[in-house]
Amino acid sequence: MKTSISVIGAGYVGLVIAACLAKLGNEVTLIDIDELKVNSIRNGVSPIYEEGLDELLRKVNMQVTTDYEKTLTSKIIMLCLGTPSDEGGINLNDIAEASTTLAGILKRRQDYCVITIKSTIAPGTTEGLIIPALEKSGKKAGKDFGVCMCPEFLREGKAIHDFMNPARIIVGEHDRTSGDIFCQLYEHFKASIMRTSLKTAEMIKLASNAFLATKISYINEIGNMCKQLGIDAYDVAKGLGSDDRIGNKFLNAGVGFGGSCLPKDLRMLIAKAKEINYQPRMLEEVLRLNDEQALRMLNLLRKHVQLKGAIIGLLGLAFKSGTDDVRDSRAIGIVEALLREGATVKAYDPLATKNFSRIFPQIEYVTVEQVLNSDAILILTECEEFNELDYKGKLVIDGRRIAKAREAGIYEGICW
Ligand code: UDX
Repeated sequence: MKTSISVIGAGYVGLVIAACLAKLGNEVTLIDIDELKVNSIRNGVSPIYEEGLDELLRKVNMQVTTDYEKTLTSKIIMLCLGTPSDEGGINLNDIAEASTTLAGILKRRQDYCVITIKSTIAPGTTEGLIIPALEKSGKKAGKDFGVCMCPEFLREGKAIHDFMNPARIIVGEHDRTSGDIFCQLYEHFKASIMRTSLKTAEMIKLASNAFLATKISYINEIGNMCKQLGIDAYDVAKGLGSDDRIGNKFLNAGVGFGGSCLPKDLRMLIAKAKEINYQPRMLEEVLRLNDEQALRMLNLLRKHVQLKGAIIGLLGLAFKSGTDDVRDSRAIGIVEALLREGATVKAYDPLATKNFSRIFPQIEYVTVEQVLNSDAILILTECEEFNELDYKGKLVIDGRRIAKAREAGIYEGICW
């Protein structure tokens, strides 16, 4: 069914969802408080890099605005605001503020609408924080308006593809009617829809990302042992992954996981566990292993060069290839340590240089060829172009298994 939808928040998730829903023929309004962002999207230019997004934005017809009043007439309102980590845990300020603004709108609405949370939040947040804020309107959830929680599983860089071809759709519903109306949005999708409670949906999202993170730390731990034992972790992963109970995905050993989701969602789950007096031993270890993994690159490097005064070249600054996102990128800890130890850093990334230079204005951003002229090269993302370089005679520490880099004069793989 085609319907009228407001998407609140034009970040990595909201922008993609809004554009895809508009492409499917819905009447979409995208709302964000950042005027610069809104103007850029209106002109068909995405403020973030996402494969195919600029093209899609130029094709689709949707309203983009800073004005919440537009939600007055939408049948479905989706909250796609960020829930970043901060020192005290997860920062729910934007979500809380948007819920209060929506309460002001609900007060004036005569008709029924469904408010759906897409943001990643800890189990119990929709019932404990969002619904009470919305009900300050004097309207009642389940009677005057509906509430769903539908987590997103989009991979950055592949988000349009993932939205259009979901592996599964999870819909947490406050009540049957909320779920019935929201699920109509997905009636032409091939994927199965699992309908469940609000807090189960919230937990499914966190448990999914925590599992992926665990799989990576697991193979990295095996890989660290393999390195010492003279075994190739990728051969082990091949043998391991061909058991379909285990599966061969997310078994690429390397420098570890980053991004806006895996580390943050693990931290969110750990914080929730502690709140209920449960000690999440395995989850904590997954994070610890991941932080140490990046520093292993430096231990391998120190075997070959004295860091003080050396020029170290970095290939890849984003948290993975195909994105400009540097949130929780493994490169951050590595650059901090290199600078602390007196090295000079020259870095290249095809998409993420601008974002990385906001964190480290003091390092040099150079061409890929100039990186090759460093005393040593660290490979931190799996960019295809890194597989076309000439590494002969160089010293390379590889965190992402780039086949061509094996031709280097001195080559060290992190787990092989
Ligand atoms: C992830 C989830 O995949 C997605 O479902 C969720 O909703 C959002 O978080 P994304 O953050 O885009 O998506 O990154 P993903 O492609 O999953 O990779 C996460 C990190 O793990 C990257 O740093 C990547 O380099 C690393 N990784 C991935 C590995 O180190 N080894 C692997 O085998 C796979």
